[in-house]
Amino acid sequence: MPVYGTRPEAIKMAPIVAELRRSEDMDCFVAVTGQHRSMLDQVNRLFDIIPDHDLNIFEPGQSLNGILSRTIDGLDKLFSVNRPDAVLVQGDTTTSTAAAMAAFYHRIPVVHVEAGLRSGDPFSPFPEEGNRKITSQLASLHLAPTSASRDNLIRENVPPEDIVITGNTVIDALLMTVEKQVPFTDSRLEQLAAEGSRILLVTTHRRENLGEAMRGMGRALARIAEAEPNLQIVLPLHMNPAVRAAVVPAIQDKPNVTLLEPLDYGEFCRLLAMSHIVLTDSGGIQEEAPSLGVPVLVMRENTERPEAVEAGVAKLIGTDEERLVAEVTTLLHDEKLYASMSEATNPYGDGTAASLSVAAVSVSLRNGGRRSAHASQRSPLT
Ligand code: UD1
Ligand code: UDP
Repeated sequence: MPVYGTRPEAIKMAPIVAELRRSEDMDCFVAVTGQHRSMLDQVNRLFDIIPDHDLNIFEPGQSLNGILSRTIDGLDKLFSVNRPDAVLVQGDTTTSTAAAMAAFYHRIPVVHVEAGLRSGDPFSPFPEEGNRKITSQLASLHLAPTSASRDNLIRENVPPEDIVITGNTVIDALLMTVEKQVPFTDSRLEQLAAEGSRILLVTTHRRENLGEAMRGMGRALARIAEAEPNLQIVLPLHMNPAVRAAVVPAIQDKPNVTLLEPLDYGEFCRLLAMSHIVLTDSGGIQEEAPSLGVPVLVMRENTERPEAVEAGVAKLIGTDEERLVAEVTTLLHDEKLYASMSEATNPYGDGTAASLSVAAVSVSLRNGGRRSAHASQRSPLT
């Protein structure tokens, strides 16, 4: 039973749901919490997933403990009447950690998809670093996207035989989606596509960046928009009203800034592929952009995704206003630097993460919730 609740979990779990549906030895029942009510439903629609169970926990202005307690309460009731053989959770959201706890208390084996990411700082990203460490304590099968994430788990004494390197299922989702070249629902985006505009794609939502850091981002974008009139800045907004309040006022009147509602994943992939640079504090976008050869400037002090930085396609630039302006301006005008950062590279896998994940789950279930040494030798990414 995959359990998920937010947009990125849904995107990364969708290829696994598709693979489980094809499996002959397992039945798949999907449970969603609805933590991201509308952004979650958007993704489920795209991937034709109708959840079997929906806890519908969303509340505007929801607190972390509210998400946690409503999820645990809802899953406690669900697992009492519909007990799955394994629960799959993805990543580091509060939905995923709450689901891992609820399953653990029912002695249901927990499979952690995208296991072993670590920034080393409990408050950045917050609360994700804490969430994923808790989930690692509860999981019996850890599906690590890369060898670096496996090494993090081994350093924390997770038995190596309980870890499988799979790649990241976001690459499966991206490859399933990006080639479709879906039409944009907003005519402004079709116009940018037709004009072949140079696009700076921006997204922001991290809790630790809310407030002054995000207001600084807004000011930096306003300065870049004025200094670079031929550049088009496109910002699909997160639904969090605190994000909008911080970032929108400084840029809403700029003629070369396009503010959008959250885009359908298909449209977002197309926009990402036609962008010149991405400026973001997102986790998933750091994984997708390298596959498309789009340089990523990461508005964070650290990252639990060092692979893209090591591959040279991503750069950590923090959130200081002056630095944002300087880094974007340099990358726009330094052709050599741009060429070196825009080589497509794929540190997060080759689109087979979901099938490797489901194979590992199948072996694990046959072994009573733990995996066998045989499966570890099958991973092509070790
Ligand atoms: C959550 C995850 C974060 C992930 C991010 C992806 C936690 C603690 N955080 O953060 O790890 O990177 O999702 O986007 O699990 N809202 C809506 N409709 C929606 C979604 C959000 O209105 O469909 C608004 C609500 O006002 C809500 C706010 O956004 O209170 C914040 O949503 P929440 O899920 O609490 O946290 P995120 O910042 O989205
Ligand atoms: N995304 C999307 N529409 C948007 C913005 C992002 O579909 O308007 C996708 C993006 O391609 C990536 C995921 O959402 O797969 C990232 O979600 P987010 O940045 O909210 O969360 P994070 O990855 O930081 O947890």
